[in-house]
Amino acid sequence: MINVRKAAVIGCGFVGASIAFSLMQKGIFSELVLIDANREKAEGEAMDLSHGLPYTASMRIYAGDYDDVADCAMVIVTAGANQKPGETRLDLIGKNVAILKSIIPQLTSRNFKGILMIVSNPVDVLTYAAWRLSGLPAHRVIGSGTVLDTARLKYLLSQELGVDSRNVHAAIIGEHGDSELAVWSSANISTVDLEQFCALRGIQDQAALRDKIYHEVRDSAYEIIQRKGATYYGIAMAVSRIAECVMKDEHAMLPVSVLLEGQYGLDGLCLSVPSIVGENGVETVLEIPLDEKEHQALLASAKQLKEVIATLDL
Ligand code: LAC
Repeated sequence: MINVRKAAVIGCGFVGASIAFSLMQKGIFSELVLIDANREKAEGEAMDLSHGLPYTASMRIYAGDYDDVADCAMVIVTAGANQKPGETRLDLIGKNVAILKSIIPQLTSRNFKGILMIVSNPVDVLTYAAWRLSGLPAHRVIGSGTVLDTARLKYLLSQELGVDSRNVHAAIIGEHGDSELAVWSSANISTVDLEQFCALRGIQDQAALRDKIYHEVRDSAYEIIQRKGATYYGIAMAVSRIAECVMKDEHAMLPVSVLLEGQYGLDGLCLSVPSIVGENGVETVLEIPLDEKEHQALLASAKQLKEVIATLDL
């Protein structure tokens, strides 16, 4: 029996602990299990977080083990190595697929029936691997995808245009990584087409602005890792946004990583594309309008991921 107020975070490093902190602030769950190969780490994080409970929501946060996941509504996997300075996300594939192979059977052997969210990188490839290894229906295996990249795009555009980032409607899709692309053709600021809004703001060279913003988004993780060694707050808030959308059955449109089955002419891989997300995970994978340049960039991103998938021993 699924406990709709219970979730587990597997991996209590910076990302996992920040996700737990973010979920706690949102009060989505009343029970949060922290699981880590280093049990003491999980215990320490649970203790530290629990000491804030008198000032936030009422919930139980505790270090647990795989026996605690069976009735979880959601399991969030962050376990794995993260990028070191100069490393790409795809460089992590060997180590992190091996870790995933040790985790997934622990869930399936306990007949886990909830939503499985993959955060570890390279997230699109690992989401595909998690789907293959778990045998769960594709709609219940979600990757955090480019939800964070899309937030970065919104924020950076908002700073350039002098507008609230929540009024910026634009998306990054494709690989959560170096081959991602911005869907400029449909970007708008509260229904005002981006091109027209830039003109209203007196921005002359819009192509230069788009190019600048795209590269800042794509390279954000490298820039942050260079300065503080890792990224974790942005991804934590992106993950808790996805969790909130699932647990509140919001039917919101989010660029999560999901198995493609013919959309955009692609199949046999997980890719971050706008999807309708609710209590059953991904309800619909949308084929949003793309111009020719965007479609070609998406195909190129998919090609790169499929080449990596072909090397996996699943
Ligand atoms: C980043 C990590 C989560 O983009 O891949 O910050």
